[in-house]
Amino acid sequence: MEQYIAAERRYMEADSMYRRCGLSGVLLPKVSLGFWHNFGGNDSYDRSREIVRYAFDHGITHFDLANNYGPPYGSAEETLGRLMSDDFRPYRDELFISTKAGYDMWPGPYGNWGSRKYLMASLDQSLRRMKLDYVDLFYSHRYDPETPLEETLQALTDIVRQGKALYIGISRWPLEALKFACDYLRRHDTPLLIYQGRLNMLDRAPVTEGILDFCRAEGIGFISFSPLAQGLLTDRYLNGIPDGSRMTQNRFLKEDMLTPDLLRHLQQLNREAESQGRTLAEMALRWILEQQGVTSVLIGASSTGQLEKNLRCIR
Ligand SMILES: NC(=O)c1ccc[n+]([C@@H]2O[C@H](COP(=O)([O-])OP(=O)(O)OC[C@H]3O[C@@H](n4cnc5c(N)ncnc54)[C@H](OP(=O)(O)O)[C@@H]3O)[C@@H](O)[C@H]2O)c1
Repeated sequence: MEQYIAAERRYMEADSMYRRCGLSGVLLPKVSLGFWHNFGGNDSYDRSREIVRYAFDHGITHFDLANNYGPPYGSAEETLGRLMSDDFRPYRDELFISTKAGYDMWPGPYGNWGSRKYLMASLDQSLRRMKLDYVDLFYSHRYDPETPLEETLQALTDIVRQGKALYIGISRWPLEALKFACDYLRRHDTPLLIYQGRLNMLDRAPVTEGILDFCRAEGIGFISFSPLAQGLLTDRYLNGIPDGSRMTQNRFLKEDMLTPDLLRHLQQLNREAESQGRTLAEMALRWILEQQGVTSVLIGASSTGQLEKNLRCIR
C-alpha cells in the first residue's frame, strides 16, 4: 500500500463527533473502533489496515484493544504495532489507545484475573506488541471476586504512576465493586476515567443495574461495547445468515442465539428504523448515544463500508 497521509478533513465534523468523557479533560469520538474481531493474526492485514485508515481519516481517534484479542491471543495488539510502524507513528499524539487485562492470556496461575502480578506483566507485554511507550487507557477487563479489590486497584494506580498508562478504566465490574473502585482511585489521585459495559437495544443492563446513572453522577465516562449486538442490530441477519458473517464463525455469536422471536423483534426494529428514514444500525447507535451519560459507542467493523454506514449516527 502507498504511504499513508491522514486525510486533512479528518476533524471537519469535530463539533458533532467528540464528547467529553465524564468530567475529565479527555474528549472521545462518539464512535470508537474496537479490535476484538477482524484485526487478529488470521485476518488480512491489508483489510485491517484499510479499516483503521478509514476510521482515523473520519475522526475516529479512539482504538480499543485487549491483551487477548486475536485469535491468536495478542495478535490484534501485534496488528496495531505493525500499523504504528507502517502508518500511524506520526499521529501517536492524535490517538487514544486502550488495552485491557483480566481474561485468560497465558498458562499458569499468573495469566488471568486481577492480581498485581498479572496486570503488571500483561501491560508490559501489550506495550511491546503494540510498539508503544504507554497506552492512553488501561482497563481491568473484568471483576475478580477472589483478588482483594485494593490489590487490583493499587496495581492500576501504580501503572499510571509508572507512566505506562495515562488513565484507568474498569470493564464489566458490578455496581458495588465499581463504587468501591471509584472511591479508591479518587483517594489515590488516579480518578476513574471510564466504565466499559455492554449497552444496546437488546441489552440494557447498565441502565437497569444503575451503572450508567452512577457513572454520570460521579463524572465517569461510559463507553458501550457491542452496541450493535455483534451485528444482530443491523440488516446482517434479517434474511438469513450470510457467508463470512460473524455468526458463521460460531464463536461468540452463535446461530442458536437468533431465535424466531428475536428475528421477529429485529424485523420490527428494522421497520421502525425505515419509517424514520434510517438503517437499523444507525437507529441502534443513535439510541445508545441518546442515553444520558454515554460518551461513545465502541463498534466493530469488518469493512470500511460498515464504518461508513455506522458513522452516519453522529449526524
Ligand atoms: N469489555 C469487554 O468485555 C468487551 C466485550 C466485547 C467487545 N468489546 C469491545 O467492543 C468492540 C466492539 O464489539 P463488537 O465487535 O461486538 O461490536 P458491534 O458493533 O456490536 O458488532 C460489530 C460487528 O457487527 C457487524 N456490523 C457492523 N456494522 C454493520 C453494518 N453497518 N451492517 C452490517 N453488519 C455490521 C460486523 O460483523 P460481520 O463480521 O458479520 O461483518 C461487525 O464486525 C470490540 O472490538 C471490543 O473492543 C469489549
